[in-house]
Amino acid sequence: MGSYREQYRRSIEDPEGFWLEAARDVTWTKAPTRALDASNPPFYRWFPDGELNTCFNALDRHVEGGRAEQVALAYDSPVTASKRRYTFRELRDEVARFAGVLHALGVTAGDRVVIYMPMIPEAAVAMLACARIGAVHSVVFGGFAPNELALRIDDAAPKVVLSASCGIEPSRVVEYKPMLDEAIRLSTHKPERCVIVQRPEAGAVLGERDLDWAEAMASAQPVDCVPVKATDPLYVLYTSGTTGKPKGVVRDNGGHAVALRWSMTNIFGTGPGEAYWAASDVGWVVGHSYIVYAPLITGCTTILYEGKPVGTPDAGAFWRVISENSVASLFTAPTAFRAIKRADPKGEFARNTDLSCMKHLFLAGERLDPETYQWASDLLQIPVLDNWWQTETGWPVNANPIGIEPMPIKPGSSTLPVPGFHIRVVDDQGNDAPAGQDGSIVIKLPLPPGALPTLWQDDDRYVSSYLSYLPGHYLTGDGGHFDDDGYLYVMGRTDDVINVAGHRLSTGAMEEVIAAHPDVAECAVIGVHDEMKGQVPRAFVVLKAGVGTDPAVIAQQLVQMVRDRIGAVAALRRVDVVAGLPKTRSGKILRKTMRGIADGRDEPVPSTIESPDVLDSLRPVLTAAAD
Ligand code: COA
Ligand code: AMP
Repeated sequence: MGSYREQYRRSIEDPEGFWLEAARDVTWTKAPTRALDASNPPFYRWFPDGELNTCFNALDRHVEGGRAEQVALAYDSPVTASKRRYTFRELRDEVARFAGVLHALGVTAGDRVVIYMPMIPEAAVAMLACARIGAVHSVVFGGFAPNELALRIDDAAPKVVLSASCGIEPSRVVEYKPMLDEAIRLSTHKPERCVIVQRPEAGAVLGERDLDWAEAMASAQPVDCVPVKATDPLYVLYTSGTTGKPKGVVRDNGGHAVALRWSMTNIFGTGPGEAYWAASDVGWVVGHSYIVYAPLITGCTTILYEGKPVGTPDAGAFWRVISENSVASLFTAPTAFRAIKRADPKGEFARNTDLSCMKHLFLAGERLDPETYQWASDLLQIPVLDNWWQTETGWPVNANPIGIEPMPIKPGSSTLPVPGFHIRVVDDQGNDAPAGQDGSIVIKLPLPPGALPTLWQDDDRYVSSYLSYLPGHYLTGDGGHFDDDGYLYVMGRTDDVINVAGHRLSTGAMEEVIAAHPDVAECAVIGVHDEMKGQVPRAFVVLKAGVGTDPAVIAQQLVQMVRDRIGAVAALRRVDVVAGLPKTRSGKILRKTMRGIADGRDEPVPSTIESPDVLDSLRPVLTAAAD
């Protein structure tokens, strides 16, 4: 394993030399002379004396460097039957003008801008325009409800919010503007202005605070890139933790640009001029890193796809987009492949499309089950590469380093630690678990460039959430094991986070919503296995004594409350009203035991259980289908 081993060893033993060398692939206004600033542990910073502009690296340098007429962004929207292509020059000009709109609204370096948008080109333009003037964007996924948006507005305190009149889901038009208005009504912090893209599928009524995107653009003056410190924040992306308060993951400018550029060559085997498609959403980290920043910084054509892999108009939509755009690499979540497989089990659409352009399929966002791996691999006859990471890390932590040295694929494993990430699997005492034995997956500090330096204005929560489990280590929240060859198998979360169709959600947040119902005494929400979405939530509720309302009516109210408070994306469909919840003698609800039984595992029952009969009476409910 020569070359990969050598690179990995060097990244751990000489991070300074390793990352300064990688930094040469980024254009700096002031090149860094140092890589790691370890003067204030556990807060590590990368390239402390470097200065650059991320938007310049994504757009201007390609315009100046000979790629001006290459397509930078191809928008494909089967849900609106439209397509649009932007060359690097066109995208640079569009972004420079929108940066002018923001500038005219008084947005300056360090100000926050919340972006609540569907998958339209303006979402990428908005992100890059913020980067251009040094403003900090915070994109909120469109499937979240007003309450979730309000939480993020209050935490990020944006000067301006950017949104659209509506998003288009395959089954319906979702009006975003009323949700934005409601979020601003709920929030304590009020943004000064909102800029709204009006879409023909459903126009929005604009109020005093609002500006029409097209009108603002018509009179805007382009502005140039503002150099920022490598350590200045580029964005804040909120992600689910164990409670209802999301965590604001901070991404810096310099480390992020260096890490993403490095990852495209070494992890994704993709180079300038190639078409790269991450079929995700800009509201998630995959969208930030691999729809917008990494492909553009690398000089690739990126695809921005508005639709789902099925029903838009058919299970062949993905293959059409790949073929029409000569996509070399597709990156998506396993759930998308399970959806395609369900609609087209023999893969006939793929077989009838010329996919000779395709070199690799990358899958991430949730565990890649061996069956889905095999189906995709047999169908496409190209390497199908699992990679494991999370919002916090910003780029793959464990992957097949195909650009360095392709490694044999083992289904069920995302292969080997990525250079820069010193991964350990530890037992309850913090000792290395032997090969084959599951434990908690931790990463030795410092995390490499691109990973979060802290949480937005909350160093204490950063330390308590991630760094307190094992001194000198970052806790990933995932469990799994290494095998004898050092391959990592990530088996699932060890906390209250679940992954529904590749979307990260908090069962704790759902419990908070359910517990607020006046008739609920206590509740537990767990993630259970689902054929297509990987996991879906299920709720178990104990009602207060003497409640006269039909339990089925309450269950329905609770489903609606979660949808209203968290969003449709929470996908809670089934609530069971039960007589009691199994607990330990100290009163802790046995969620892990419940999860195991629901998933059909032979889950050991802890000896500390208080009333085993409560669990026994719950067994048939737990093993019933989720829908
Ligand atoms: N805006 C508004 N509503 C949204 C939304 C958005 N951006 N995204 C999802 N929703 C809604 C959906 O319309 C759906 O509502 P419904 O309950 O009224 O039907 C609900 O949220 C759940 O959506 P989803 O989880 O996406 O389920 P689905 O059945 O519509 O589609 C898949 C399932 C697997 C096809 C789809 O999730 C998918 O393609 N996922 C893989 C790619 C991906 O996005 N990965 C993310 C991380 S890499
Ligand atoms: P997110 O922060 O939304 O990217 O979700 C991160 C979580 O998704 C991780 O902590 C894992 O639980 C899960 N995850 C992502 N990729 C993989 C993978 N390749 N294999 C297993 N789990 C994954």
